[in-house]
Amino acid sequence: MTQPKLKPATGKLGVLLPGMGAVGTTFIAGALLARNGAARPIGSLTQMDTLRLGKRTEARSPMIRDFVPIANVADLVFGGWDLFRDNAYEAAVKAEVLATDHLNAVKDELSAIKPMESVFFPEFVKRLRGENVKPSEDKMELAEAVREDIRRFKKENGLDRCVAVWCGSTEVHREPTEVHSSLSKFEEGLRRSDPAISPSQVYAYACLREEVSYSNGAPNLTAGGVPAILELSRETSTPVSGKDFKTGQTLMKTVLAPGLRARMLGIRGWFSTNILGNRDGEVLDDPDSFKSKEVSKLGVLETILQPELHPELYQDMYHKVRIEYYPPRGDQKEGWDNIDIFGWLGYPMQIKVDFLCRDSILAAPLVLDLALFMDLAHRAGLSGIQEWLSFYYKSPITPEGLYPENNLFVQLGKLKNTLRWMQGEELITYLGREYYE
Ligand SMILES: NC(=O)c1ccc[n+]([C@@H]2O[C@H](COP(=O)([O-])OP(=O)(O)OC[C@H]3O[C@@H](n4cnc5c(N)ncnc54)[C@H](O)[C@@H]3O)[C@@H](O)[C@H]2O)c1
Repeated sequence: MTQPKLKPATGKLGVLLPGMGAVGTTFIAGALLARNGAARPIGSLTQMDTLRLGKRTEARSPMIRDFVPIANVADLVFGGWDLFRDNAYEAAVKAEVLATDHLNAVKDELSAIKPMESVFFPEFVKRLRGENVKPSEDKMELAEAVREDIRRFKKENGLDRCVAVWCGSTEVHREPTEVHSSLSKFEEGLRRSDPAISPSQVYAYACLREEVSYSNGAPNLTAGGVPAILELSRETSTPVSGKDFKTGQTLMKTVLAPGLRARMLGIRGWFSTNILGNRDGEVLDDPDSFKSKEVSKLGVLETILQPELHPELYQDMYHKVRIEYYPPRGDQKEGWDNIDIFGWLGYPMQIKVDFLCRDSILAAPLVLDLALFMDLAHRAGLSGIQEWLSFYYKSPITPEGLYPENNLFVQLGKLKNTLRWMQGEELITYLGREYYE
């Protein structure tokens, strides 16, 4: 495949977030602190990682941000939509993720970021009621209003380009219907306000129409599984990626499962449970929103372990995932895994994982990387699903008929090889015969 021609990252890049809650504000505050030199953007590949070029003997490992022309964090301008009127400072204080001195160090910049009126249909997020909601019930009119928001945001901030990353709540589980099957049917559906069209789909449609790439940080049915949105992504040459940020427990799962599978160790059961007490936890307390999350979390082991190829080791595995809303913990989630494995001659063993994590601290660097890489992809002329960004997602979207790659290390290899390919560098295959010839 020929190397893409990259347009330069000139001017400023707008980062639009539908949903400015715990993750959204932790990301914005962190990016502001990092660019002021007041804190380090730990967890972000675009800011902290290197990639190897050429042979292991060449000692060429530039920083990713020096190797590919991604936008500079100093050139980012933040905006978004939310159900609540709180500015980003007030929302961050309520989210209780970051310490007061961190928030105070960027208080003025955060306070200036006020959410635009949202598109919200309460049947899609049953535990929330919005106060900052566009008044119309006409879905096409709402899509037009979001498009107008984007144009105004670009104009007011003198922006060349924008990207959008969904950091809004998890919507209820829905399967695609006829209205999602093609762009023309979807637009017809918007005109008659089809009840199967969700708020996130309205945002995605409006973003792509404005040539703003769309990344889906929640398990919502938005890009993957909605042929209409994928059609629009190709038609407008604008990338999409998703879905559901891979942060705590699933990150651990996609690290551990490839290791067990690599050693041909069997798994009888994998029980995962979580307690969390933030607003995300409250939304997920609704069984219909939890269903979206459950489906997204359950899928990962299947493609890593491939029970169809190794029925003896994995076919009878019992996999269960629970999330319990427990307010005292706030954003400081605890995720437990009990893994019943078996080895040589079938002898059983157990692994216990207790991950005391911070949900939004793990998610924020993913938002930054996705914003910068999606902008890069757009400037490289890539459209449709950006599978090379699967690394960031629990439930990577793929074209129909192609199974997703969930192994974190395969995903990382794919991401880095895509960057090498973009810059015309040799891909790394790990064959390594040349060192012995
Ligand atoms: N934190 C993590 O580790 C993690 C991992 C994977 C996925 N996610 C997902 O990221 C999303 C954000 O998580 P969070 O902890 O910030 O949740 P949060 O509840 O703190 O923030 C979500 C925000 O979205 C807003 N919102 C809901 N519907 C909206 C709409 N239609 N338009 C505009 N705003 C809307 C809500 O008002 C809220 O402020 C959730 O869907 C969550 O499941 C988070």
